[in-house]
Amino acid sequence: MAPGSELACAISGSTRLYGIFGHPITHSLSPLMQTFAFQHHHLDCLYVPFPVQPGHLPQALTGAIALGICGLNVTIPHKEAILPLLDDVSPEAEFIGAVNTVDIRDGRTIGYNTDGTGFLMPLQELPLSFAGTPALVLGAGGASRAVTMALLQAGCPELTLCNRTPERAHRLSGDLRERFPQARINCVPFEHAAAAARSHILMVNTTAVGLHPGDPQLLPETALRPEHVVYDIVYRPMHTELLQAAKQRGATIVLGIEMLIGQGAEAFRIWTDHTFPTAAIRNLVYPLI
Ligand code: ATR
Repeated sequence: MAPGSELACAISGSTRLYGIFGHPITHSLSPLMQTFAFQHHHLDCLYVPFPVQPGHLPQALTGAIALGICGLNVTIPHKEAILPLLDDVSPEAEFIGAVNTVDIRDGRTIGYNTDGTGFLMPLQELPLSFAGTPALVLGAGGASRAVTMALLQAGCPELTLCNRTPERAHRLSGDLRERFPQARINCVPFEHAAAAARSHILMVNTTAVGLHPGDPQLLPETALRPEHVVYDIVYRPMHTELLQAAKQRGATIVLGIEMLIGQGAEAFRIWTDHTFPTAAIRNLVYPLI
């Protein structure tokens, strides 16, 4: 039996339909999380995975509007491609250049990117003041754009960006400076990450390193200290090598799965204005990673 398949499923004439566009889509945890949340709040809503082929996105979106679908999550390979197809996009989605949530109201489509808000959610549960905490962010890709923007919006006074391809870090820091002229943003070479760790409390991995066995070590264990908060947005495996090393050294760790749950919570809030049952959803998805 599929996980969560014991959930009740009653469809009525007024059931509101939500879903996710992606390809492939079978690995997604969103149908399970959103279905659980709808049922938790007794909302007459249904959430369906739609395996939309890369070339079919415009037709799929037009179809969703025509069918009265109320909201969508969007994942690989459509997160960037959907942007120009929407009526409006949030400032975060525009900055990141990708949309992962669409709200459809009266036939109008509004795109959001909930990664940044989702990223902050588990940090807000820690005794950590963003205003006094400089952050070291590894990576300068799409995920880093979401993370760095969210950190600066939350009041982080200083960011250090560290990326394998330095030009990408410089481009991101330029874009961030335009939006947050008061923030201090530095770029350091990737090989200086361990040295940079000494002057930071919060460290975030936004790179894909850690996803595969045999990936290079991001930071030597000796660079990690008990006062560090180490956040790895890679969630498969749940405890990456970086997080294992950080835990070994007594640091506080934040799991990438928490960001995944957080971005789902923000999508759910946009659609329904209800709170995600986060603790229960943790119990549901943690065993599946
Ligand atoms: P995402 O949207 O998930 O952020 P992305 O935009 O392709 O994906 O960015 C991937 C990030 O992981 C980049 O910062 C990339 O570094 P480069 O800009 O140098 O490519 C980083 N990354 C991927 N594999 C890496 C590796 N083996 N070592 C270091 N950084 C790596």
